[in-house]
Amino acid sequence: MDVFNTVSTLKKFVNNCKFSKKTIGFVPTMGALHDGHLNLVRQSNKENDITICSIFVNPTQFNNAIDLKHYPVKHEEDFELLRSAGCHVVFLPSVEEMYPKGVKQNDICGFNFGEIENQLEGAFRPGHFNGVGIVVSKLFHMVNPMKAYFGLKDLQQFLIIRKMTLDLSFGIDIIGVPTVREKDGLAMSSRNLRLTQEERNIAPFIYRTISEMKEQISVFKTPKEVLEWGISNFHKNPSFHLEYLDIVNTSDLKPVEENSTPTSYAIVIAAHLGKVRLIDNLLIE
Ligand code: PAJ
Repeated sequence: MDVFNTVSTLKKFVNNCKFSKKTIGFVPTMGALHDGHLNLVRQSNKENDITICSIFVNPTQFNNAIDLKHYPVKHEEDFELLRSAGCHVVFLPSVEEMYPKGVKQNDICGFNFGEIENQLEGAFRPGHFNGVGIVVSKLFHMVNPMKAYFGLKDLQQFLIIRKMTLDLSFGIDIIGVPTVREKDGLAMSSRNLRLTQEERNIAPFIYRTISEMKEQISVFKTPKEVLEWGISNFHKNPSFHLEYLDIVNTSDLKPVEENSTPTSYAIVIAAHLGKVRLIDNLLIE
């Protein structure tokens, strides 16, 4: 497995792959890897000749300086995990390599993703998806993959990247990969490392609640009834500070209306547990 730190060495490798007609699958990450990330690598490996994984904690997508400062960094462990998952190349650039002119969002060409950006995560993290769009489009130009793999755990991110790729004709297949969970249902996340043992024990309450909500939908309760039950369940558990819990259309992420019958919708949630913000969702199709 090669590790490249500069855009020029990465591009040399990519050009060689293109010359020898090898297909490239790309998995962008911010490191502190777990099985959710590795599953993206494994899927890419099945579908491409070469898998490139980037590890870059992108400053332009953090609107909270403390969150950025505390983001876990574990390069040696990450390399080991990537090697075992069969990854061919790691791209590990510095901030200066990615942003030679600085990281102020206003100084960089940005995105307007429209309505879908201002819901859910976007409403609570202003500028977040602009930063994600900036870094992912830069990485797409550097890696030039045929396919790129994103976790459905970050549903809004997946939908926004897919829109960006289609609207701006990147010509890259955006593949959504199902959420990988711990045995007790907690969605795997680099942020789980920051939970205390006590918090870790109660964190699966999130998955249990949204699973129960999904069950209730399947027995024909209305979205309003199901949502009221879910919110009241959280009110009974003071360990969590609920940021949002909603049932939304996957087309625009707006709440499902009472008498509509969308073909694809999702239960989406963000909640604080101690100092950690956790997100999750369940798709209903
Ligand atoms: P990061 O949080 O490191 O996640 C990298 C990829 O792994 C994302 O596509 C995310 O959805 C996926 N992922 C994380 N946990 C997962 C799980 N439990 N199951 C399945 N997939 C999971 O998302 C980012 O980084 C950044 O925003 C990035 C796209 C790299 C841009 O900076």
